[in-house]
Amino acid sequence: MADSGSEASGTAEGSLAEEFAVPPQVEEVRGRMAEFAERHAGAGRRVVLITSGGTKVPLESRTVRFLDNFSSGRRGASSAEYFLDAGYAVIFLHRHRSLYPYTRLYAGINLLDALATEGGAEGGSARVLVDQTALPNITTVLQRYQAVKAAGLLLPVEFSTLSDYLHLLKAAAQALSSIGSKAMFYLAAAVSDFYIPASEMPEHKIQSSNGPLQISMKMVPKMLSPLVCDWAPGAFIISFKLETDAGILLARARRALDTYRHQAVVANVLDSRRGYVAVVTSGDTRELRLSEEEVQCGVEIEQRIVATLVAAHHTFMAQA
Ligand code: PMT
Repeated sequence: MADSGSEASGTAEGSLAEEFAVPPQVEEVRGRMAEFAERHAGAGRRVVLITSGGTKVPLESRTVRFLDNFSSGRRGASSAEYFLDAGYAVIFLHRHRSLYPYTRLYAGINLLDALATEGGAEGGSARVLVDQTALPNITTVLQRYQAVKAAGLLLPVEFSTLSDYLHLLKAAAQALSSIGSKAMFYLAAAVSDFYIPASEMPEHKIQSSNGPLQISMKMVPKMLSPLVCDWAPGAFIISFKLETDAGILLARARRALDTYRHQAVVANVLDSRRGYVAVVTSGDTRELRLSEEEVQCGVEIEQRIVATLVAAHHTFMAQA
């Protein structure tokens, strides 16, 4: 693969600065992430940056249409909960409106169907009641969420477009640089490999009256290069590898590890991602698999992924 080492890192940095618009809030968010990381590392905690959800690539400046990368955000949101259970502080860099820790458990439920009113006749004030059968385990989940919130252990940051994501990832890496090996990057977001540079993008809505649409998109440089080489060289970095063809999965994951020389790749296939992943490190490939019964009982594979990586991070810190 051509894009390895400092040359690829420099190319990626250059194209990020020149071709991707900087989101207006990036400096303020960088400051919040740095304060969060220092506060928690100072209290002896490890900090994980989780990326989650898919990036959006606009086809027009005044965007009507866009190219989306598929990801519900479930992998990132459920992993955040397991990292919190393991004592980590979590920066959750997620796609606007993708699944969110704890609320993800009720994502398919219409909230209004889980509520009822009592009283309120003849102008009196009504009380709102929660139907706990419609919101399974709501008391426990709410208590866990409130404890995390009260302790300030979860910092949510939102992105929508690929530009937002790339600049916020860089800002996060800079913000976490002061805590070195205590930082983990868990890059579960589905990130576009293609984009249209601002200089080539039509301003207004593309007209169908002009006939079939033909677009040419440029390759997005892999940001893993500058992340590993320049932005967060002391951190524990995990990328994900998504394929639809199981036959090429492990070879592609190993190739990513050889190219970027980070600590681990979590490899998964789209159709089986809830029940199988392989955690590939330089010396080992560990396959994690749920049985049918475990899936039926609600066991989540993210619990095993996180346990595996927490142990590997511990070893990494001891050697750092
Ligand atoms: O959200 P769910 O529905 O639960 O689904 C979870 C998931 C399938 C999205 C997740 O498990 C997953 O595999 N995420 C990574 C998807 C992806 O972008 O894979 P990739 O093979 O295209 O990229 C590999 C890695 O390179 C990724 O870690 C990505 O962050 C990184 N990348 C990608 C593009 C780019 N321009 N720069 C990058 O650094």
